[in-house]
Amino acid sequence: MSINYSERIPNNVNLAGNKTLQRALEHWQPGFLDWWKEMGPENSKALEVYLRTAVSVEPDGWAHFDYVRMPEYRWGIFLTPPEAERKVNFGAHKGEPAWQEVPGEYRSTLRRIIVTQGDTEPASVEQQRHLGLTCPSLYDLRNIFQVNVEEGRHLWAMVYLLHAYFGRDGREEAEALLERRSGDADNPRILSAFNEKTPDWLSFFMFTFITDRDGKFQLAALAESGFDPLSRTCRFMLTEEAHHLFVGESGIGRIIQRTCEAMNQHKTDDPAKLRSLGVIDLPTIQKYLNFHFSVTSDLYGNEISSNAATFYTNGLKGRYEEAKLADDHSLETAEYTVMEVVGENIVTKHVPALTALNERLRDDWVKDVNAGVSRWNKIPEKAGIPFRFKLPHKGFHRRIGVFAGQHVSPEGQVLSEAAWTHQHKQWLPVEEDQAFVGSLMGRVTEPGKYANWIAPPGRGINNQPANFEYVRFS
Ligand SMILES: [Fe+2]
Ligand SMILES: [Fe+2]
Repeated sequence: MSINYSERIPNNVNLAGNKTLQRALEHWQPGFLDWWKEMGPENSKALEVYLRTAVSVEPDGWAHFDYVRMPEYRWGIFLTPPEAERKVNFGAHKGEPAWQEVPGEYRSTLRRIIVTQGDTEPASVEQQRHLGLTCPSLYDLRNIFQVNVEEGRHLWAMVYLLHAYFGRDGREEAEALLERRSGDADNPRILSAFNEKTPDWLSFFMFTFITDRDGKFQLAALAESGFDPLSRTCRFMLTEEAHHLFVGESGIGRIIQRTCEAMNQHKTDDPAKLRSLGVIDLPTIQKYLNFHFSVTSDLYGNEISSNAATFYTNGLKGRYEEAKLADDHSLETAEYTVMEVVGENIVTKHVPALTALNERLRDDWVKDVNAGVSRWNKIPEKAGIPFRFKLPHKGFHRRIGVFAGQHVSPEGQVLSEAAWTHQHKQWLPVEEDQAFVGSLMGRVTEPGKYANWIAPPGRGINNQPANFEYVRFS
């Protein structure tokens, strides 16, 4: 399963053994590079970036670090090695050999699943393309570029599946993935969170902490798929995703750290005072958390979904860590708890677990987000500062599902329109907050130096020293 880097498209799928497929992908490649030039990180073409590239798909030591000009990054097709005699692990086909080809009856559904996942990958690159111009350090600049090239590779991962298994329809979908644009009025990306702006680094770190984590859970559910090539593709993507989550969590952690230092140094928790000191007050960070959490919650879709049930029963998309769960893996009689709004109250009800799989995946994600928030809270705790971050109620600021059209406070109170209008500015970033955060965004490119609003990281990438030149401007 070693990766062949001598070919135009690096791969471990023996692309050379399938000339038609190889030609089709080589035909798609220039379009991808054009897209990268047009929509990839702004003004980045000439930079030499200290990037990791996959050299092996084995779990240990797959990464190689070196300076790369991003347009020359070796985007390719990497799947984890096949598991001998892998079976479908859930649904009506449980126990049958996993599919190496797309079952005809599931073709359009699978294609839709792959396209929807694939569309998020270039979307986030587009959302983040201006941020290099305001990087708080070379370390952070390198990290965002690493995330960006890997999201580009994730697009390759999905396009490979479309080309290899979905014939002409797949090739057309692969073209369309290069044509949609995040936030475009006429031809937007498919999911709404991927059409939001990522205007500053606080948003970027929240996005990688929260929205890339949605990616983790979607990929994990698809890694359970009975369609084996999809499963193996997603398994390798998950190893890359872990770094994106690290960038987000540590990025916010460093912002909190810096603010706590300023709070103690100046003995103040007054947001106005802290802002005048050029750090981001903790309540503003909480507002950004509320925003990204609620917008990303919507990505999981309706709490009750017959589509989700069908995906599961047909063996296309499993639950998080399906194979580790101890139940019948068919969910014919199991129940699950979902919320519902009745008058002014939020109540829970039991529904067939099969119909509640979106909610279940959302709950798994919430648990994971919450664990990260608890790790953040150790920072003010250690500094002797009483402030704690808290995820808002699941119903807060939602546009999809049972809470759409409702006004729910972060504490989970159903509010009247008037009460919401009166109070929501305390809970979500308003123009003034965004303008303040925006005003901090300068550009720091001296090795080892960091913008005032963020603490340096605990250690360097690949254990490089503090003043390492992660990006070379030539
Ligand atoms: Fe991704
Ligand atoms: Fe990601």
